[in-house]
Amino acid sequence: MNKKLLIGTGVALSLLFSPISQAFAEEPTIGERKQVDNIAHRGATGYAPENTIAGFDLAVDMKADYIEIDVQRSKDGELVVIHDTSVDRTTDGTGKVGDLTFDYLRSLDAGSWKGEQFAGEPIPTFEEILDRYHGKVGILIELKAPELYPGIEEQVADKLKERNLDKPQNEKIIIQSFNFESMKTMDQLLPKVPIGVLTSNRADTTAEALQEFSAYADWFNPSYGIVTEELVNQVHSLGMQIGSWTVRSQEAADFLFEMEVDAIITDYPDYVDPRN
Ligand code: G3P
Ligand code: CA
Repeated sequence: MNKKLLIGTGVALSLLFSPISQAFAEEPTIGERKQVDNIAHRGATGYAPENTIAGFDLAVDMKADYIEIDVQRSKDGELVVIHDTSVDRTTDGTGKVGDLTFDYLRSLDAGSWKGEQFAGEPIPTFEEILDRYHGKVGILIELKAPELYPGIEEQVADKLKERNLDKPQNEKIIIQSFNFESMKTMDQLLPKVPIGVLTSNRADTTAEALQEFSAYADWFNPSYGIVTEELVNQVHSLGMQIGSWTVRSQEAADFLFEMEVDAIITDYPDYVDPRN
């Protein structure tokens, strides 16, 4: 059994026979549909530049439940929010994130490539994102290529602790990565913060692999191409939740609704929440 599930079991048992338990007896639904967390992938990336304040603000306006961010580190140790390990695709600069100083990274234009109306959008810092959004929207923090940044787990943990975001009722913080060893470390550093593992590899969906993940992870987050009903059931039976990515069409969102995943990570929050 997932170790965090084990801790929760005691609490759940004490509530089982309480008068309020009836109110929570069934999973919340929107109409006939299961409630799904709407996670804006790198912000509302379909409409604004990824991993920028413009894109994250838009995701909040579009009523996303979480924003997803990619965290890396500058040459001089500042945690920054950018997806690629080089700045070439999404800014007017060039070079690898880890080889560039914070001052240089901060001087880059991370908006113009998406449209002139976004000119001058800077690469955000991790701390800026925490301070601007915690308590306002959930934050799904991806450690991007943490093997390039030794000790980044401790640094991220410290920034969360400084803000009291390492507690059980932590205002919706989740940490995820494709690097499983990094997530084991993260779980040891922040035992009360939910941890996710990311994969697009079917080899990671065997019963053995899933069992191993459930020892430290609360979320199993696969690309939607490898999602099946059976996988969703297996993940649930191990006490984990499942969030899938990256939705860029209504069809893909509808498929994941049908699979009854717990979260959909999307460039278009409006495909998941029709209120937009
Ligand atoms: O949150 C899932 C997704 O972000 C993983 O892929 O490449 O967009 O970081 P990527
Ligand atoms: Ca990501």
